[in-house]
Amino acid sequence: MTDTSPDDRYHLVVAANRGPVSFHDDPYGEPVVTRGPGGLVTVLTEVLRRYPGTWVAAAVGGEELRLAAGESAAEVELDGDVYRLRYVAIDPDVYHKYYSVVANPMLWFIQHYLWDLGRHPDVSAAELDAWQHGYLPVNRLFADTILKELAAGTGDADGRPPVVMLHDYHLYCVAPSVRQHAGDVFLHQFVHIPWSQSDYWRVLPDHIRGAIYEGLLANDIIAFHTEHYVQNFLRCCSDLLDLPVDYRARTVAVQDREVWVRAYPVSIDPSGLRSAARARRALAAEREILRKRREHLILRVDRLDPSKNVIRGFVAFGRFLELHPEFRERVTFLALLQPSRTDVEEYVTYREHVERVAADINAQHGATDWMPIDLRIQDDFPVTVAAYKHYDVLLVNAISDGMNLVAKEGPVLNRRDGVLVLSEHAGAYEELGAFALGVNPFNIEQQAEAIYKALTMDADERAARSEQLRRVVEGNSIEKWIAAQVADIRRKLAGEV
Ligand code: G6P
Repeated sequence: MTDTSPDDRYHLVVAANRGPVSFHDDPYGEPVVTRGPGGLVTVLTEVLRRYPGTWVAAAVGGEELRLAAGESAAEVELDGDVYRLRYVAIDPDVYHKYYSVVANPMLWFIQHYLWDLGRHPDVSAAELDAWQHGYLPVNRLFADTILKELAAGTGDADGRPPVVMLHDYHLYCVAPSVRQHAGDVFLHQFVHIPWSQSDYWRVLPDHIRGAIYEGLLANDIIAFHTEHYVQNFLRCCSDLLDLPVDYRARTVAVQDREVWVRAYPVSIDPSGLRSAARARRALAAEREILRKRREHLILRVDRLDPSKNVIRGFVAFGRFLELHPEFRERVTFLALLQPSRTDVEEYVTYREHVERVAADINAQHGATDWMPIDLRIQDDFPVTVAAYKHYDVLLVNAISDGMNLVAKEGPVLNRRDGVLVLSEHAGAYEELGAFALGVNPFNIEQQAEAIYKALTMDADERAARSEQLRRVVEGNSIEKWIAAQVADIRRKLAGEV
């Protein structure tokens, strides 16, 4: 990679709510280390392979709390990677306010347009308290831990200032205090979820909204997955804060500083995915899928999250069966949904609703030996990669989604020239839309029609589309994603405009 020559060293600190590993107790009480969940772990691991540094994360379990108590960073090895980790010890009640009241659902719902504003949210004493005594203190603790790590001053940066990369909506208020206390430092924040339009942000009281924008704008570069979110963010800075914004240069002027706002569409690791698909458990899962398979397989893979639009997907499938009864008993819709944020009320009621709708559609359309929707609420990656190989249609109909990595993973593994039905409101649509069947996530008739079109598309067109999808995904590697960000950091440090 041209952008990562040995002269190009940075003292790097990466911070995200979640760490790269999970600790589990084995029967003898020794912690067993596995990879943490989510796509962020893959890409940040790649960043740290190229630019060794420290990962700062919230301590949520026993072993993490033990490590958090140490004075210096801990080193944890997994699959040949050695992670330098600093955990932030957080009181469980404070963590609950930060994660389950403010970050999810409040901020997540604002950024994915999920509030039904006629009825929700209430900004009541509980929410105000969660902001004051949950989100802000946790952000302060993250800032303190980052400052400690910067003061430890490890890493040879050839005289360049240390680079702090903050990730996501959990940490919007970290940057100001790092900037204030660290001296010379480069601050970079990646927002992995959409940026909604300015009026939707007016849901938040002024002091909360103000702190979020002030926090983000204390960074040197703010990064998103798409140009669309960049433009939304710039528009918000102008509409809500009356700051001078340059839409072409993609900059915001904040006092004497210029903040760059940029898009870097994240990628996946195709070779890692392929080896996961060759693992013994994945092959066993594949045999099971093939044994149960009807003529056609429709697949969806998601965290069980309201933003993913699972219910409308099921309803659209039911509508498709109504319109095209010739497909009855010939097609199964396999829905692999990982449980998520299970102590947030909105997620609990959403799960119940998903289960009810799937049961209704199965009762309405099913036959004695055919269940139209095979709903599995589980976290089982081997089953996911096995299913990726054999879908005919991959349904990604998110209401709004920062990127959506499923839309990228599926085409890389699929062996049947499966068709991607893709929401126009997913970040991945900017790259993949031309080769997918685009759908408006609210339009049930259109989604039913897209399922039909996908299942009846002629073989040549399917082959051409899936070839193009693979080409786009494989063409935008994680290396490119990192290199583009590092190149901008270098340019900004060099004073380019
Ligand atoms: C999204 C967010 C990540 C988050 C992930 C899983 O992708 O951008 O920051 O980690 O969802 O959510 P969870 O709440 O389980 O960490």
